[in-house]
Amino acid sequence: MEKLVIEGGIPLHGDIRISGAKNAALPLMAATLLCPGEHTLRNVPNLRDTRTMIRLLEYLGVKARREGDVLYLNSTCLEHDDAPYEMVKTMRASVLVLGPLLARCYKARVSLPGGCAIGERPVNFHTAGLQKIGARCDIEDGYIQAEAEGGLKGGTVYFDIPTVTGTENLLMAATLAAGKTILKNAAREPEIGNLVDMLNSMGAKISGRDSDTLTIEGVHALKPADNTIIPDRIEAGTYLIAIAASGGAGRVTNCCSAHLPSLVEKLRQAGLDVEEGDSFISIDSRQGSALTCVDIQTRPYPGYPTDLQAQFMALMTLAEGSCTIHETIFENRFMHVAELRRMGAKIKTDGRLALISGLGRNGLRGAPVMATDLRASSSLVIAALAAEGRTDISRIYHLERGYENLVEKLSGLGAKVWKEQE
Ligand code: EPZ
Repeated sequence: MEKLVIEGGIPLHGDIRISGAKNAALPLMAATLLCPGEHTLRNVPNLRDTRTMIRLLEYLGVKARREGDVLYLNSTCLEHDDAPYEMVKTMRASVLVLGPLLARCYKARVSLPGGCAIGERPVNFHTAGLQKIGARCDIEDGYIQAEAEGGLKGGTVYFDIPTVTGTENLLMAATLAAGKTILKNAAREPEIGNLVDMLNSMGAKISGRDSDTLTIEGVHALKPADNTIIPDRIEAGTYLIAIAASGGAGRVTNCCSAHLPSLVEKLRQAGLDVEEGDSFISIDSRQGSALTCVDIQTRPYPGYPTDLQAQFMALMTLAEGSCTIHETIFENRFMHVAELRRMGAKIKTDGRLALISGLGRNGLRGAPVMATDLRASSSLVIAALAAEGRTDISRIYHLERGYENLVEKLSGLGAKVWKEQE
């Protein structure tokens, strides 16, 4: 296995180009199952997770072809209507094929994703929602067995929690349901807006984009898509925090600052200069001046994103004073804390609450650490860039799930980072 090695303490400077959003690419790729023909998706990031989704779609019968960042997916002939455990267990977002398969084939058999490092990750809102629009969903031998004789029928779905992939699954399924479907307390993440745009371009009739109530008038058939994946706001936020932690200054380009309202606000509260352009965000840590400790609590969009919680915690270990981080979305998303402590961070946790005692700009020391999940591993990269000395990060396959060309991108900012065999 490979590890990532970082010689820290170097202020980062320059521009870093943001790739397409992993969490938009995955649902949009799944949506190509809704209708036969060749679909075109542009700005698709080349990540472990998008490669996993391609493999799952190919198993289902889709013909996939990548040319640079353009992905051609021909879903004319489907050969299976099931997503096996061996595939789903490596990426829980595989559950996103459930809605499209059910809508097109009137049945689907998708393995329960199982839990992951950050939590149990149930899909009960997905199955309860599908049952509201005419599906029968049974759990048998660890699989969701879904059927809709005669096709799905519109209905009203209320999500107890604004689930992102639950909203996406129901959106896709409802496009071909007979009649009207209303999704209430729906998630409002920008990735869902990207999916709404794609489905409407295919002939769907969806209104309420970016709101918590989505209305879908079912149609008889859709046509192939040609759509562009939005920039990855989590990648952009990760690199903004990395530049700030290193004490440097730079810009993330090819991104959408409107998708990061809460992070921009929190970075400014921490004492950083943040400028927002049409397609870039710049950050200046004022030659490494002192950072202010800032409290955050994670919330559904447009609140502070849970996917940027670990990264912000790494930054706060370098601030003056103390602050709290309240993780309200997932029950076990502090796996990075023990590893940050190995680098000298002073963090106490109690359930979903963490108390960080800032050490100041030069408080961290490089050390061997282990990645546990995608965003926790990016938190360790940020800490390593700021720390004095060398950090070796093992199990970096977690990082490769969600960050395209990370070594090249950070090296472009002047970081000393490379891969070695463990
Ligand atoms: C999506 O996961 C993202 N993944 C996650 O990003 C992100 O952290 C999460 O949304 C929250 O923003 C993709 O988009 C592929 P949820 P998702 O359903 O849809 C509970 C990353 O790092 N819940 O919005 O699985 C759930 O346990 C990943 O890129 C149920 O109880 O998250 C959680 O507490 C990690 N039952 C809350 O709702 C359900 O049926 C929000 O989960 C579904 C969810």
